[in-house]
Amino acid sequence: MSTQPSLVHRFEPATDTARPPLLLLHGTGGDEADLLPLGAMAAPGAALLSPRGAVLENGMPRFFRRLAEGVFDEDDLRRRTDDLAGFIRWAQAEYGIAAPIALGFSNGANIAASLLLRHPGLVRGAVLLRAMAPFREAPAARLDGTSVLMLSGTADPIVPAANSKRLAALLAADGATVRHHELPAGHGLSQLDVTLTREWIAGL
Ligand code: MLT
Repeated sequence: MSTQPSLVHRFEPATDTARPPLLLLHGTGGDEADLLPLGAMAAPGAALLSPRGAVLENGMPRFFRRLAEGVFDEDDLRRRTDDLAGFIRWAQAEYGIAAPIALGFSNGANIAASLLLRHPGLVRGAVLLRAMAPFREAPAARLDGTSVLMLSGTADPIVPAANSKRLAALLAADGATVRHHELPAGHGLSQLDVTLTREWIAGL
């Protein structure tokens, strides 16, 4: 087994070990520090594992390459998703943490959706904030026992409503328990995202 993490990251140990850890996945241009405050609000006391996307687009970190806005390089997405899965396994052994709940925003939510589809069961649940369907044709996956919260914005200029609905339907058809809220919001996050995420995580 590798002794080196594959991704630059931050790890904040739990102060409440009863809570499942959170895997924080930032949006384009973010980094490993970005979602730490959101994670602390969403699950106070939980361990926080926050990697930085290894792809640079004009200097902005991302988790996988894209050909244009909303058009993904799916070969790169598959490879980066598998790298992320390896990183999670490494971190679980290194830090002694249980299967995390993924909490991803935008580009981070999209790789979290890919992680669900390519590595079912690796995360115990996922909060997908402003996510879109990661693949034109999704791989078959069995997601029974996996819970997913999707929060989309009805005024999101990046994610068409039909696309986020397609992702929610796909995950549900694979057996995931999906709650999908369409909020009066754009691509950016609002206080309602924080409140709904915290309540959903508390109810898991
Ligand atoms: C993506 O590229 O993952 C999505 O378009 C969201 C974004 O990062 O802008």
